[in-house]
Amino acid sequence: MAARTQPLRVVAAEVVTAVLDGQSLGQALPSGQQRVAPSDQSALQALSFGSCRWYHRLNAELTRRLRKPLRRKDQVIQSLLIVALFQLRHSHQADHAIINETVEACRSLGRRQLAGLVNGVLRAAQRDGEPAPDAPDERLSHPLWMTDKLRHNWPEDWESLLTANNQPPPMTLRVNAKRTDREAYLEELAQADIPARATPFAPYGIQLDQPCPVDRLPGFNNGRASVQDEAAQLCTTLLDLQPGQRVLDACAAPGGKTGAILEQGPDDLSVTALDDSADRLPRIRENLDRLGLSARLAVADAGATDQWWDGQPFDRILLDAPCSGSGVIRRHPDIKLLRREDDIKALAEEQLRLLSALWDTLAVGGRLVYATCSVFPQENHRIIQRFLRQQPQARLVPIDAPWGRDTGDGHQLFPGDGSHDGFFYACLVRSDSNHNQAVTS
Ligand SMILES: C[S@@+](CC[C@H](N)C(=O)[O-])C[C@H]1O[C@@H](n2cnc3c(N)ncnc32)[C@H](O)[C@@H]1O
Repeated sequence: MAARTQPLRVVAAEVVTAVLDGQSLGQALPSGQQRVAPSDQSALQALSFGSCRWYHRLNAELTRRLRKPLRRKDQVIQSLLIVALFQLRHSHQADHAIINETVEACRSLGRRQLAGLVNGVLRAAQRDGEPAPDAPDERLSHPLWMTDKLRHNWPEDWESLLTANNQPPPMTLRVNAKRTDREAYLEELAQADIPARATPFAPYGIQLDQPCPVDRLPGFNNGRASVQDEAAQLCTTLLDLQPGQRVLDACAAPGGKTGAILEQGPDDLSVTALDDSADRLPRIRENLDRLGLSARLAVADAGATDQWWDGQPFDRILLDAPCSGSGVIRRHPDIKLLRREDDIKALAEEQLRLLSALWDTLAVGGRLVYATCSVFPQENHRIIQRFLRQQPQARLVPIDAPWGRDTGDGHQLFPGDGSHDGFFYACLVRSDSNHNQAVTS
């Protein structure tokens, strides 16, 4: 017997409520998808993502329209109103259908007593049109703390950065250099009627004109291409991989960059992929299997080197550090609802801990690339400044590239500067001569 399905907007409201309660869209959406008809699944995704993307702006409007806040136990009705306001402001669905369906959904959620209020709020919203908020956090739909912090950090760029965060992201591929080349794959895409073009900066990148399901991509299941944003692809180009090297990908799951290292490096690299999440490690294996590549995998806290390191120094280390994700908000708009200002300080301490611990595993003359998908200096060039103060034998290698900007202590990309994600990169080289003996003795 087919599972009973629920109305699309009811499930969308429940997904938004789950995010407000602390779940990510990645956690809340899959169970929501099981509760709607298959034909509604992509609409559920669009409603959930759109409602999170515009939540702060829509909620500011809603707060003004409600004479007093709804009770905590009626949170789902507030989410239902957010979903409806998102549709009124950003969809082509007829206004009267949005309003009627939302009132009906309010009843079906067992809140008959709120149906009149829902109807009144939405009719007023329809009649008045969308207000134009003055406050930038409302206008650009970000939490106030994030808006203030980015305005302070990037006085020239914060507004275009926040605007870019509200754009739907492009779908970008990385061609598997061990199986094909970019020109040949572009030709295959053209034959499959998938318009695309080469990315300007990443040598194996292809950006699709429109996102498409991966099973439509030629040879995807045989590992000829992977989905990876151009900014993420640039990490591998900074590693300067050479034959015979021992390479560590320290925070590796789900293995996007491990795959890129193995595809683009010499055949005889010895690659270790580490992650502290046992749940995410199988994703690395699945990704490498699809690409026809292999690495040594381990579950461990990268910062606890005594628990996983055999004492043999690495020639190259990629530390793609856990971070706020503030550079990938357009892909994960729930970050705006989930992150708290205090998280940034805690993340920065963790990033510095990982960098300091991994430094001891780097060979003399070896290179470590520190990267985050963050746009907060606290997680980026300030980590490098702090690290260089405590580690005088570390030398920063300037990144000579036609993309991003030099912060003096690393290179920062903003989202939307040419349609890649926001990312930070720093290349560090180890110049001391006797440190490894001290570490291993
Ligand atoms: C930015 S994601 C890595 C993405 C990955 N490099 C890729 O390209 O597919 C950060 C990863 O760090 C892992 N992580 C967080 N803290 C860690 C730690 N102390 N040691 C090792 N891995 C950690 C998380 O589980 C997460 O998978």
